[in-house]
Amino acid sequence: MNSLSIEQQARAARAYILQELRKTEDGVSILKDKDFSARLDTNFITIFAIFAELYGYRHDCLDQLVDLITMCGKSWQDRSPDLQRVDKQRELDPEWYLSNQMLGGVCYVDRYAGSLAGIKKRIPYFKELGLTYLHLMPLFAAPQPLNDGGYAVSSYRDVQPGLGTIEELRDLATELRKAGISLVLDLVFNHTSNEHRWAKKAAEGDPEHSAMYWIFPDRNVPSAFERSTREIFPDDHPGSFIQLPDGRFVWSTFYHFQWDLNYSNPAVFRAMAGEMLYLANVGVDLFRMDAVAFMWKQMNTDCENLPEVHKLLRAFNALCRIAAPSVLFKSEAIVHPDFVVQYIDRYECQLSYNPLQMALTWEALATRDVSMLSQAIERRHNIARGCAWVNYVRSHDDIGWTFSDEDAEELGKDGRNHRKFLNAFFVNRHPGSFARGVPFQDNPKTGDCRISGTTASLAGLESMQDHAIERILLAYSIAMSTGGIPLIYLGDEVGQLNDYSYLNDPAKMDDSRWVNRPWYPEQRYAERHDANSIPGKIYAGMKHLISLRKNTEELAGGRAIGFYTGNPAILGYQRPGAKSSVLCLCNFSDEAQWIGRDRFMGMPAEAKDLIDGYMINLRNAGIHMKPHQFLWLRF
Ligand code: GLC
Repeated sequence: MNSLSIEQQARAARAYILQELRKTEDGVSILKDKDFSARLDTNFITIFAIFAELYGYRHDCLDQLVDLITMCGKSWQDRSPDLQRVDKQRELDPEWYLSNQMLGGVCYVDRYAGSLAGIKKRIPYFKELGLTYLHLMPLFAAPQPLNDGGYAVSSYRDVQPGLGTIEELRDLATELRKAGISLVLDLVFNHTSNEHRWAKKAAEGDPEHSAMYWIFPDRNVPSAFERSTREIFPDDHPGSFIQLPDGRFVWSTFYHFQWDLNYSNPAVFRAMAGEMLYLANVGVDLFRMDAVAFMWKQMNTDCENLPEVHKLLRAFNALCRIAAPSVLFKSEAIVHPDFVVQYIDRYECQLSYNPLQMALTWEALATRDVSMLSQAIERRHNIARGCAWVNYVRSHDDIGWTFSDEDAEELGKDGRNHRKFLNAFFVNRHPGSFARGVPFQDNPKTGDCRISGTTASLAGLESMQDHAIERILLAYSIAMSTGGIPLIYLGDEVGQLNDYSYLNDPAKMDDSRWVNRPWYPEQRYAERHDANSIPGKIYAGMKHLISLRKNTEELAGGRAIGFYTGNPAILGYQRPGAKSSVLCLCNFSDEAQWIGRDRFMGMPAEAKDLIDGYMINLRNAGIHMKPHQFLWLRF
């Protein structure tokens, strides 16, 4: 047992690493950079402590650390002056991403614009919409035709041929930056594709590369793991493992061509850190940390959200602080809300998707009862200071009902039955449903099922029902005002519908999420300025919300605070600002609704509704709200 404290050990390790660095010319020049050395001093202990905990038992632990720090130094030296300038700027404005000016958009490069060059041509439109954040879905080299929408990466340093080149990506990042738009890319680091160089070598039996994945000679260990793991893509394969042609078994949580990396091997951490820093230097401002929940495996657990995952994320984050200081992380953890919040931390992921709010917005639209959504805002909005939610209405993925059964039970709802109802409602198997969704990964064994569909189709535009446009705008009004960065799935702002053409493509027909990943809707965009057209009405409503948000400081970062309206169909939450406060009220009912004046006791008698621009007297008769109306009342 080592009798030195972790600080003493870190000091000794740092001295050793500096001594090793001084032996090479590169190392000497790295150490001359005062800024780099200062950031190394501040962050080294984090990385060291995590390495010691996760890998301290291995003989190569210190050597891996030397290589890691050397790589960091080289990466910093390669960072362009332009990006180093951004680093400096953001050091002076460290909470830039909490601003109410922030607005996100997400799209597939090929589907939305054909190629990276096509995306560049759309920058004027992104500015028209007001985007400050653009998430381009995975655009790296990937197996063809099956690649899970790009989430099976074969090389983190090559763009998928046809979309462009890494130089074009660098150029696009620069152009976006000039337009005030941050580039967001996925770091798909839980797994690689089976065509990645590391995977190919592993498949050939190379021991060093086999050790980068979870590969076992027979079914004994895999079966033992599978006793406690969950099936994620049961339509593709049962359990968590697939068999290789040579008879061995490899862990693949998602599709059989996505092999989970083995982070209990420090060489994997180091290799992936290298890919991350490379992309940071291409110009990525923010990484979407894909599938974080699954990154560590431990026998007799479900192998999700284990404490080691947080350590890995902290170590990756500390590396960025040293070598690409302005880069931020957004966690993609679509899991139980108790676990989602654990990833949100200044030293881990500064941003996180808000899957609970997204799912419960749909839940409330279906039930016309806001109790679950209201409870989530009240209880689950409280995240660490300096961090923010990314609030969205739908993504490229399915909608999973990730609410807590205990929370539901408090409201008299049985989680299992309620999910069953929601699944039936959103695939139009419930009387009176307005939604046109499609089931995803319907698992008869467990009764689990999720929902695919675009915002417009789920909200009733496809079934041509009344209130569809109002529902779309209501859902987005919540994403725009609850605190954090609102994220628009591009195409939603013109009411894009489901695309069923995936059913004719053998590479896509078994994955219903393609129904909500349509191609660029040329005609709808062409009609966006026509106030009489459906796309025009939605676009005008969205633009109004966006411009109000950008002019309403109370809506910046932070979090929403619950407000009980006393009406089960009306959601309320408050956004306190420095000088004034905004109270948001949303009527989820298809009927007009009313909030009694007693709810406003102790509040000023009058407030301005920012949405319509009128003063409202709260004392006279309470508030009457039209079906699906929302109000942003400033006091
Ligand atoms: C994330 C992506 C999803 C993908 C999965 C595996 O959840 O959003 O599209 O299938 O990771 O990479």
